[in-house]
Amino acid sequence: MTLSDRAVAVLATADGRAKAALSRAHAAQWFAARAHGELPDIGHAKPPPQPARPDAPELLSPRDMPRRRPGSPQGRIALLHAVAHIELNAVDLHWDIIARFSHIPMPPGFYDDWVKAADEESKHFNLLCDCLEAEGSFYGALPAHAGMWRAAEDTAHDLHARLAVVPMVLEARGLDVTPGMIEIFRKVGATRTVEALETIYSEEVSHVAYGSKWFHFLCGRDNADPKPVFHTLVRTHFHGFLKPPFNEEKRAEAGLPPDFYWPLTEPAEG
Ligand SMILES: [Fe+2]
Ligand SMILES: [Fe+2]
Repeated sequence: MTLSDRAVAVLATADGRAKAALSRAHAAQWFAARAHGELPDIGHAKPPPQPARPDAPELLSPRDMPRRRPGSPQGRIALLHAVAHIELNAVDLHWDIIARFSHIPMPPGFYDDWVKAADEESKHFNLLCDCLEAEGSFYGALPAHAGMWRAAEDTAHDLHARLAVVPMVLEARGLDVTPGMIEIFRKVGATRTVEALETIYSEEVSHVAYGSKWFHFLCGRDNADPKPVFHTLVRTHFHGFLKPPFNEEKRAEAGLPPDFYWPLTEPAEG
């Protein structure tokens, strides 16, 4: 099996735990080969337009999602459920970038990074499922956001746009909001959840960094100035404006300087 075939096999697996297990097994095989100095064939495989999804959770548009306050135990379970859903989509997003853009020649490190990110997202999904189950719930018990794959569809034609919108906007947003989420669970002494979210928070920095690194690489290969390219792509393919406050420290650590994201908080001048 080529790496692209492996990516498509993960995308075609519907059950969340089974998807995460296959993803982790494929990552282990990739890194075992790399440790032996081998570069497995990247190959070409056509990913499905949308990844396979389990029967539950029911997918609802954001305006139909029930509102729950994080101050209640039910609200905290709903928050964990929403994050688990994000992590499951992230598993698919990282395998999708490998298969969908396999026609674009990239250095081996590009695949190392996204296989590692996909493996980490699989671990994040499992950690959150464990937290939900420890609270007497499970992934699929509540409805989930239907629009998660939209960014993938909107950027399916363009690797620059995919990197700009998914890791450099959406995953960077995760860096902004995760500390507040950790606080919610710390206040109620939910140690297991706090530890899971801290693992996620530390590993997500590198996913944003991979996005920034390969976006800059592609722009450099085209002899293009990355900042205006980033602004144009985000304005074209991301719906809405970026929302402060930003986690400027973690964004900097991930290779996202302020002049990349601040201008996108408002309409373009002129
Ligand atoms: Fe994650
Ligand atoms: Fe991530």
